[in-house]
Amino acid sequence: MKPDEFLNVIVKRHTVRRFKAEPPPEADVAKLLEAAARAPYGGGSPPWKFVFTGDRAQIEKVGAALKAHQPDATEEFGAYFVHAPVLIAAAWKPICYPAREPPADLNDPQAWPKYREDITVGLLSVGHAIENILLAATALGLGAGYIGPSHGEFGFEEILSVEPPYRVCALIPIGYPAEG
Ligand SMILES: Cc1cc2nc3c(=O)[nH]c(=O)nc-3n(C[C@H](O)[C@H](O)[C@H](O)COP(=O)(O)O)c2cc1C
Repeated sequence: MKPDEFLNVIVKRHTVRRFKAEPPPEADVAKLLEAAARAPYGGGSPPWKFVFTGDRAQIEKVGAALKAHQPDATEEFGAYFVHAPVLIAAAWKPICYPAREPPADLNDPQAWPKYREDITVGLLSVGHAIENILLAATALGLGAGYIGPSHGEFGFEEILSVEPPYRVCALIPIGYPAEG
């Protein structure tokens, strides 16, 4: 690949908020997962989990959870993701290196001073993996949205079977763009 081709993918990437109903091929969705897995991470092992779903009922449940906890979420900026044929949830955990228990509650004010390095490395790492997904989607002619951040307050974890200490920080709807 020529350097310009890669740079063009970076330039072309933008947030897509309207999708065609047609689902992307499974092979392309698998490539997005592979792109995420290639991202750099701190702490010795990837501190992320990505849940992919094309299950309409499950995506609608995630949408309902967002609406229930954030009634002012607009169709334009937040709730639009329910119309995408595929939803990726990005989850992360504090790295807790070398071997200590992660904080039970990240909303505990004491968690940040004690675990700030673990938290920062975990979040930076999942951010790199998310960006890889966004760029890979662009390269494949797919569109990707971005809804975040979340901190466990919406209950996405239960709907998507994300076990603690992982928590969903962002939702990435994927599909063919229905906009120019
Ligand atoms: C951490 C983060 C949170 C975001 N949250 C939302 C969101 O809740 N809803 C939304 O429509 N876009 C969201 N976005 C997308 C941004 O609005 C978008 O990336 C920004 O406006 C730049 O536009 P572009 O992605 O088209 O270049 C988010 C992006 C990031 C990085």
